[in-house]
Amino acid sequence: MSAPLALRNQQIMMTFAEKYQAEIKGLIARFPHKKSAVLPLMHLAQHHYGYTSDEAMREVAAILDLDPTHVLSLAGFYTLYYEEPVGKYVLEICNDLACALRGADQFVEMACDKLGVDVDETTADGLFTIKTVMCLAACDRAPMLQCNLKFEENLDEAKFEALLARLRTEAADGAAGPTVVEKITAYAKSQ
Ligand code: FES
Repeated sequence: MSAPLALRNQQIMMTFAEKYQAEIKGLIARFPHKKSAVLPLMHLAQHHYGYTSDEAMREVAAILDLDPTHVLSLAGFYTLYYEEPVGKYVLEICNDLACALRGADQFVEMACDKLGVDVDETTADGLFTIKTVMCLAACDRAPMLQCNLKFEENLDEAKFEALLARLRTEAADGAAGPTVVEKITAYAKSQ
């Protein structure tokens, strides 16, 4: 039987600090200084809220007695923290120098055109977010991207269309697998 409405609302309203009290304590205990737990705590906050909202980062800062600006700047620096909600599939296209020399910028333009969004935007159906990222160490297989952290290499327009078709079918069949945030959280927890 599902929880009564009031209880469900209360669960949604619960901050991650309240919900993950024991986990936060455990993460902090791993380090000699509690401020060193900042990245794992940011992952946990991202897991709870779905992205690293300002509110979430301020909460992390308060727990660790850090300046909120410091935590917000970390969220802006690392590509695996998402400062805005993202779609079911996050397509992170490398357009760093080596990939740019193999047509990555034109590939990004084509991908954005196909999905009707700009870089850092999500399609209206919530399925796809396009991002550009720095070198993913697959320079000889450009144009390339990672889709929810899985590499797709040696791409061209036809292969990109086929990828989109496969992902749309997967999503329609309810077989999409974990989201990028879920994958990142699982990886962070395993460390
Ligand atoms: S520059 Fe794109 S993978 Fe290295």
